Amino acid sequence: MAKNSAPPPGTGDIFPEEIPSWLAIENGAREVFKCFGYGEIRTPVFEYTEVFQRGLGDETEVVKKEMYTFEDRGGRSLTLRPEGTAGVMRALSGTEAMNGVESRVFYIGPMFRGERPSAGRRRQFHQIGVENAGRVAPALDAESITLIARLLDHVGAGGYQILLNTRGVKEDRKPAEDALREHFAPVIDSMCEDCRERLSRNVWRILDCKQPQCQKHIEAAPDAASLFGPASRDYFNEVCDILTDLEIPFKIEPRLVRGLDYYVHTVFELTHPGLGGQSAIAGGGRYELAVPGQNRPIVGVGFAAGVERLLMAREYNKIPVPEPERPQVYLVSLGKEALKYNIRLADTLRSKGIYTMLEAEEKSMKSQMRSADRLKASNVLILGENELANGVCVLKNMADGSQKNIALADVAGEFGK
Ligand code: HAM
Repeated sequence: MAKNSAPPPGTGDIFPEEIPSWLAIENGAREVFKCFGYGEIRTPVFEYTEVFQRGLGDETEVVKKEMYTFEDRGGRSLTLRPEGTAGVMRALSGTEAMNGVESRVFYIGPMFRGERPSAGRRRQFHQIGVENAGRVAPALDAESITLIARLLDHVGAGGYQILLNTRGVKEDRKPAEDALREHFAPVIDSMCEDCRERLSRNVWRILDCKQPQCQKHIEAAPDAASLFGPASRDYFNEVCDILTDLEIPFKIEPRLVRGLDYYVHTVFELTHPGLGGQSAIAGGGRYELAVPGQNRPIVGVGFAAGVERLLMAREYNKIPVPEPERPQVYLVSLGKEALKYNIRLADTLRSKGIYTMLEAEEKSMKSQMRSADRLKASNVLILGENELANGVCVLKNMADGSQKNIALADVAGEFGK
């Protein structure tokens, strides 16, 4: 493809032949969500910037480095959504979810992050996400993890691993934070520039750093969750017990903190071997999310999976690409009058729900048969001047090559319409 017709880096065109795989995932997800009582929500792809600044936290990489922010005509700052949770909670903060009534919603759509593009990492990507807002209970966290597992199994992305950890309640974090600071302070000069800044501003973020020079210090860090008090630990144990009872395998990963600051209690991430460098196919957890204009946060638990990464997992799992629909009939016209008739016939058949194609200009029989083959039409209807005069046509079944003469008035009936 010529360079000037390529879309911006980190974005992509999705062509009709790719859509059946996307639909298999989206429709598969809808089937699973229905069984768990989730209804679809559609929020704007851009929000006031403070929705993300306050919701995700000023210290997160996403807010600091990756947002696409611009001004509207009135000079107010807007941002293309880098994730779905903050916007959905902004929407739900006007509902009874704010007062402890459970609200179950899912969303499917594009998200935008100014990251360095690579395989599986895009600037415009698509998420399928769910949020269960309004209530706090370990069983709801466990159910959210069960749901992502069922979803991945159902859409052909099996073979994942579930990593689980707790961020505890905020009141419980101080001793763990002090222990982490004490651990990193003596070695901080050998760590990356970002981590040096994180030490005083938000020490948890160090655990999320991917820089090679930081890894050995991160691996040796104390297990923060073991320093949490009983409120955090009991909650987490209950989540783990329910998952064990449901026979959902998981691995506790003490250094899993996730990249967004709204999480409390349970956090989880799912990895998949089919993703190469980017191993997280989905991630989520419980959160307390600050919404502009509200004096207290909204609570919830949920997750999002990347559709591009689900597609990679399907490919890795050798799930066949669904066949696109083929025309039920291709109308071949021999001569001007036959073409005129077929244009009308195509309209009649299509209005009855029959997938019909035809050549728009006078062309040779050979060229029209070639087009029918290329489109993999199931049947070809051949109409010449003689047939037209007699009110008949030839219908050829392309699978077995058999053909028969039928009355023009009976064509729709041949397709059960
Ligand atoms: P996240 O971990 O930032 O969480 O993103 C969730 C998923 O989106 C990732 O696991 C990955 O599959 C996909 N993803 C993220 N960034 C990219 C990218 N640049 N290119 C391709 N795929 C990407 C969230 O967004 C939270 N809102 C999830 C959540 C919902 N937590 C609670 N509720």
